[in-house]
Amino acid sequence: MEKLDRMETNELVCRRSCLTDRSAIAEMVDSVYDGLDYLDAFYSLYMKQNFRYCFVAEKNGKVVSYIHTFTVLDGGRTGVRQAARTAAQHRGKGFYKILENYSTMQINFLCPNLEQWAYTAYWNTFEKKRISNPELGYQLIDKRYWKVYIIKETDVYLNTVHPGNNGLPTQTEPMHEINIDEAEGILKDPDNKERLVPSGSLCSSWEPFSVDDGLRTNLTAIYTRSSVWGTKIDGDCRALSTGTIYECPKGLMYDLDYYGQEFKQLKAHILSHVKHALKESNMNRQLYLCVFCPFEMSLADLDEFMLKDMGWKPEPTDETPVYVTITKRL
Ligand SMILES: CC(C)(COP(=O)(O)OP(=O)(O)OC[C@H]1O[C@@H](n2cnc3c(N)ncnc32)[C@H](O)[C@@H]1OP(=O)(O)O)[C@@H](O)C(=O)NCCC(=O)NCCS
Repeated sequence: MEKLDRMETNELVCRRSCLTDRSAIAEMVDSVYDGLDYLDAFYSLYMKQNFRYCFVAEKNGKVVSYIHTFTVLDGGRTGVRQAARTAAQHRGKGFYKILENYSTMQINFLCPNLEQWAYTAYWNTFEKKRISNPELGYQLIDKRYWKVYIIKETDVYLNTVHPGNNGLPTQTEPMHEINIDEAEGILKDPDNKERLVPSGSLCSSWEPFSVDDGLRTNLTAIYTRSSVWGTKIDGDCRALSTGTIYECPKGLMYDLDYYGQEFKQLKAHILSHVKHALKESNMNRQLYLCVFCPFEMSLADLDEFMLKDMGWKPEPTDETPVYVTITKRL
């Protein structure tokens, strides 16, 4: 194993990526996930965070493939693999595989103490096949719903969301934005942890964070880009959620990752996050709201609330509405 700052093959040059690659990467991912890709929004932040390791492959001096391969989390024991992207016209030529091999080799050298990989993904045929083969060593550790809704004419909804209106949850629910110390206290409590995050993995804006290992540094990473909300009743935390707002190629996106068992609380969190998002965006932007919630909840109930009660619209997608976290021990 060796450290190679760049690796050249017949066709490609593979290397660590830097801030000046941003526009080339943005151009490459413009159409990924129907324009709802987070990569460009977070790229500058990734370049500043020393626990992220990002790589690109160039062909004739142009970036053709990218992998934000590894984010070292959970107190240094987990390498989160994410954001594999190859320019549409270059897919299926093996570029991603070459870059992945190079990146993995570099990470093995740079972070020799990693104990496991983790990643999140749509629960599609590719992932199901992986999980169904125990010899590959992948483990499914969490399964959640995700769905994107379009919120238009936003100020109208601010006025309709008020106590007692059509049986909607009131804004007097005991929920509030919580700071990092409070979040840490909540997640260190075994009862809260079992109620909110039984899998031990809390996903915030597409990234899986352990609530057992490296909790404080994981929370610091979450708070760098997200706000965190909690509902406390009689001293117990009954619901916790993170909200992350960013610009994606298609427009303004807001990821809402909800943890809790009660659907009533999910509705209250959605309304508070929407208000928060509208305030952040000066209340005059269409919003793509991506809701992630526990698999034990009913997607039909969520749709009924979002589409019928609130009058919002679904964003069509070809992906399955189920989102998973997968690990593999090293
Ligand atoms: C997934 C993607 C990066 C593959 O890039 P590529 O350069 O076309 O890939 P390659 O030609 O090197 O190899 C394709 C391999 O990737 C694998 N692959 C396909 N989908 C994958 C996925 N979601 N995650 C990881 N690997 C995947 C395939 O198994 C294939 O391997 P095989 O030939 O042994 O079957 C590309 O299709 C892409 O940019 N898709 C849009 C974004 C996306 O879905 N990213 C994955 C989740 S982050």
